[in-house]
Amino acid sequence: MHSQADSRPGLHAAIIMDGNGRWATRRGLPRAAGHRRGVEAIRRTAEACPDLGIGTLTLYAFSSDNWQRPADEVGGLMRLLRAYLRNETARLARTGTRLSVIGRRDRLPEGIPEAIERAEAATEAGDRLHLRIAVDYSARDAIIAAAQRLQGADTSRDAFGRAVAGEMHGSPVNVDLLIRTGGEKRLSDFLLWEAAYAELHFTERMWPDFGETDLAAAVTEFARRDRRFGALAPAKVSAAA
Ligand code: FPP
Repeated sequence: MHSQADSRPGLHAAIIMDGNGRWATRRGLPRAAGHRRGVEAIRRTAEACPDLGIGTLTLYAFSSDNWQRPADEVGGLMRLLRAYLRNETARLARTGTRLSVIGRRDRLPEGIPEAIERAEAATEAGDRLHLRIAVDYSARDAIIAAAQRLQGADTSRDAFGRAVAGEMHGSPVNVDLLIRTGGEKRLSDFLLWEAAYAELHFTERMWPDFGETDLAAAVTEFARRDRRFGALAPAKVSAAA
């Protein structure tokens, strides 16, 4: 079973939102147009979660490696983030969505950390969905930071897992279902600790086209999987006895 108990109800789904650039390029549009359409896909996907039994959704919006992209693309993504926080907060609060941003904040452009804090405070009471957006996020860095923070104090799996997941955000430690859009099949330094027993779902769909039907298909496939967390299925346990 889970080595760390998660108290939050519902599944924890996480998505690597890939394919914005290719979606745009195939249409003769600038990559920024793909990222803009990606924001609409975030809204559609988040709003579909509660009815599909998803209580927490973690989205990979900007990895720590994404700083290496051209400055105008990075600037465009940061502008989108700023606009998202400004324009979506009221809607998030109305739909019972609590927003948290995970990842480093000290390298974000001026004003964004404060905008994040305002959006988190304004949506704090949301109890239908916990939407976590990963910005300047690296799973390896999160694991190193947890190790440094604990300094050997309590490095049991439970305590360490909570430190990695960032217990200050009341975040569940385990990811149940990890989805990657855009056809690639890799984890790209996303939630490496939390996804230890996640079911993986890869889809060719480009992120700007992703929506409720795709999410429902992933959840249906997830429900068919036989999750054993390294143990044997009950029938096999009695057969082995
Ligand atoms: C990957 O597509 C996507 C990203 C690096 C950014 C994801 C960002 C958004 C969906 C919008 C901004 C988010 C917020 C919260 C405002 P890619 O550009 O790597 O696509 P490609 O593999 O086709 O080039």
